[in-house]
Amino acid sequence: MPQLLDELRQEHKSIAKVLGCLDRQMRIFETGGHPDFGIIAAVLDYFEGFPDQYHHPKEDLLLARLSERDQTSAHVVGDLAQAHVELGDNLRTFATAVRAVLLDAELPRDTFVGRARDFIDSQRRHLAMEEASFFPAAERALTADDWSELGASVPRILDSLHGGEDESKYESLRRNILAWDAEDRWPEESDKPPGLSRAPSS
Ligand SMILES: [Fe+2]
Ligand SMILES: [Fe+2]
Repeated sequence: MPQLLDELRQEHKSIAKVLGCLDRQMRIFETGGHPDFGIIAAVLDYFEGFPDQYHHPKEDLLLARLSERDQTSAHVVGDLAQAHVELGDNLRTFATAVRAVLLDAELPRDTFVGRARDFIDSQRRHLAMEEASFFPAAERALTADDWSELGASVPRILDSLHGGEDESKYESLRRNILAWDAEDRWPEESDKPPGLSRAPSS
């Protein structure tokens, strides 16, 4: 598999795991429990930065090349830039609802749950569309030279967006979210897997 495609698929797995943590926290809330708002806030931080800064620019580049090679498939994928804007809108709507809950503002429980579900579902639909339609079409249509050209362009493009800053802060954030979520599953100290310590929430 071309390296760029492998990276994109790995990133989808990472995104899906973070979504899974949010999903679990929301299920706790929906069944009358107390979700961990530290985890929910960290999930928002992750989605406010990682996709637009590191994931979507690669997909934009890939779609541009796919439209040169196979316009019909690119057309089926559709307007990815617009889809990413809409995901950002759903994120902001959900983030506003989270803030309202944290500030004890009046927000019906169903509204909070609805916004969380809209966000989670829209992200999952988008990942599924790209896995089912976009990535296989790119894999079929692009040549080896395309992949090596794109692979060479990606670091330059990301560098121009971030001035050389790497993705490690998002990788750490993602690991923390997964560790905190796992820690939540073992409420008894003695049953916790080793090596997990909850960082103070900020
Ligand atoms: Fe995307
Ligand atoms: Fe994606």
